[in-house]
Amino acid sequence: MAEHLDLNAGNKEELYLSLVPQIKALIGNETDSVANLANVAAALKEAFHFFWVGFYLVKEDELVLGPFQGPIACTRIQKGRGVCGTSWETEKVIIVDDVEAFPGHIACSSLSKSEIVVPILKNNSVIGVLDVDSDELATFDEIDEKYLTRLCLWLGSIL
Ligand code: SME
Repeated sequence: MAEHLDLNAGNKEELYLSLVPQIKALIGNETDSVANLANVAAALKEAFHFFWVGFYLVKEDELVLGPFQGPIACTRIQKGRGVCGTSWETEKVIIVDDVEAFPGHIACSSLSKSEIVVPILKNNSVIGVLDVDSDELATFDEIDEKYLTRLCLWLGSIL
């Protein structure tokens, strides 16, 4: 496994293009889900300095907090609640430019201002979500959606 990330890319898209193969190399043939999700969260945080990066995993009928990087967070989220629960229910990526304008947003931290949530599907059902939060408004766009979706598609195939 690679011991460090090479993060010398220029703009955001170049950084994703450089980072995603490094994440795949980092994980290699490891099969432990906790280890792999922990390293993915750490790699995204290190590359982009996001405020919070982490996973919520479907357990019975709730999302339960999984590996993450950042401040402490809410432990359980019901289906259809908040951005994460809505992404789970609709099986869609959700980008929120201003969390205060999202009805039912769950504020784990008052410092979080914008957010992207990407569902992770395995065998056509959601097994978890990737949640990335920023402490600035409108951080996430179609570039984040494109590359985080690809990452989650791949995660769904290895988890
Ligand atoms: N804001 C999320 C909850 C998770 S925390 O931000 C880490 C939501 O509304 O689903």
